[in-house]
Amino acid sequence: MNIQSQSDEFKPAPATRPYGRPHVLLSVAVSMDGYIDDASPERLMLSGPEDLDRVDGVRAASDAVLVGGGTLRADNPRLLVNSPRRRADRVAAGRPEYPLKVAVTAGGDLDPALRFWHCGGAKVVYSTDAGAVRARERLGGLADVVGLGPGLDFGALLDDLAARGVRRLMVEGGGGIHTRFLAQDLADELHLALAPQLVGQPAAPRFLGPADYPGGPARRLTLLGAETVGDIVLLRYATKETPA
Ligand SMILES: NC(=O)c1ccc[n+]([C@@H]2O[C@H](COP(=O)([O-])OP(=O)(O)OC[C@H]3O[C@@H](n4cnc5c(N)ncnc54)[C@H](OP(=O)(O)O)[C@@H]3O)[C@@H](O)[C@H]2O)c1
Repeated sequence: MNIQSQSDEFKPAPATRPYGRPHVLLSVAVSMDGYIDDASPERLMLSGPEDLDRVDGVRAASDAVLVGGGTLRADNPRLLVNSPRRRADRVAAGRPEYPLKVAVTAGGDLDPALRFWHCGGAKVVYSTDAGAVRARERLGGLADVVGLGPGLDFGALLDDLAARGVRRLMVEGGGGIHTRFLAQDLADELHLALAPQLVGQPAAPRFLGPADYPGGPARRLTLLGAETVGDIVLLRYATKETPA
């Protein structure tokens, strides 16, 4: 494998579909044994400082960042671009200071006290029609809430983001969300940060769950690159079975 040194700044691949659905980049940090957290209530840190900075650069290069309701409840993330320089660069380029923050929930039961709602720029929540009623009740004006029908249609979600001008979407998990994007062949790219840790707890969440993944178990994803980021190995893959 060709291991390259860490590049200073994330340089996004050219957007392949500038006026269609956004380019979808899945980002995850995973232990050597395939877990994305441990079984404790506290979040397990898998990324080191260099990798957190790399992720900040990927966020800054994105028009929107997305998380699932499970991650919002478990980790209470802010999902900000933390670097003032990167935020200033975005503004200088005529973009909003922060990417659009996107939450996905089936049931709509999202706590209005979560940090996600109270920092950064614009927020949108995607849900089922029934979940959207619940989310509007809970969140009031904290976010734009969109019902996508009786079920959660991730293709419709991408179409709505495209209509909002989103060309690059970064998906930050958790496992339920990553599983659905990959199973529905809606992700273009995967950034998998392999951490030198062993979790070993059966109750801990894994990167991906059971699904009928496109191409089945024999299909091999296309490796785009491998590089070291501190003590992390970052693997980048093209994931779409049928590229647009
Ligand atoms: N290491 C990493 O890089 C990383 C990154 C992020 C998260 N994590 C970890 O991931 C864990 C959370 O993962 P998770 O899988 O529980 O949650 P998740 O993937 O964040 O969110 C899953 C949620 O999405 C909603 N959902 C979307 N599509 C659905 C569908 N078709 N049917 C039903 N619900 C749907 C549901 O929301 P509602 O429940 O609101 O209805 C569901 O609970 C946490 O432990 C967190 O620390 C790790």
